[in-house]
Amino acid sequence: DPSSQDNLKRAVAKKAVELVKSGMVVGLGTGSTSSMAIEELGNLIKANKLKDIVGVATSYQSKVLARQFGVKTVDLNDVNHIDIAFDGADEVDAGMNLIKGGGAAHTMEKVVDSIAKECVILIDETKVVKSLGLSFPLPVEVLPFALAPVLRALAALGGQPEIRTALRKDGPVITDLGNMVVDVRFPEGVTDPAALETKINMIPGVIENGLFINVANKVLVGTKDGEETSVV
Ligand code: A5P
Repeated sequence: DPSSQDNLKRAVAKKAVELVKSGMVVGLGTGSTSSMAIEELGNLIKANKLKDIVGVATSYQSKVLARQFGVKTVDLNDVNHIDIAFDGADEVDAGMNLIKGGGAAHTMEKVVDSIAKECVILIDETKVVKSLGLSFPLPVEVLPFALAPVLRALAALGGQPEIRTALRKDGPVITDLGNMVVDVRFPEGVTDPAALETKINMIPGVIENGLFINVANKVLVGTKDGEETSVV
């Protein structure tokens, strides 16, 4: 079924790697869509269509996949720039503001995506929203030591915080950086994303939240109606 969610993601992943040129440093996002882009990037390298590519992974997932698909990775501290980064998102609004962190990887993603000269977001059409946070709660990575005060501070901002747990693990999800994730529901949605991003990050013990403001330069959307991709 060409309109299945996976096929829409595959189509944008293929389109995205066409933007890469030989010699580039590429930020490798996390999640199911980014995984496909890493695979497609590896295919171009194996086919000798791209040379001298290095990736910077944003998670264990993207590092493992890069190795599996033949994309060499380097540490962020060993490069002085990132040419292009690909990443998925959980929600995207018309201003190209994002909610990320559904895979608990938003802290490293935000570092890599913000540094990149071009940040390309890959989504299927179900991720496009009028207003952020109405259906997807905002992920916040939290230092375990500070969990209780951070939960109180998030509630004081009008949020309904919930510690993330996983189906196949007892207890809280622990991120690649050793922290916990709190998903914060805002009943009215996120009305001022830029202000909320700052307010949450000002809470001591918060590592990073999933609001990405002015980070994306391009959004490739996989749509069902025949057209493979379009730009918001
Ligand atoms: C990882 O923490 C997230 O920011 C992902 O980029 C996001 O959840 C998108 O993942 P999918 O491409 O699997 O929807």
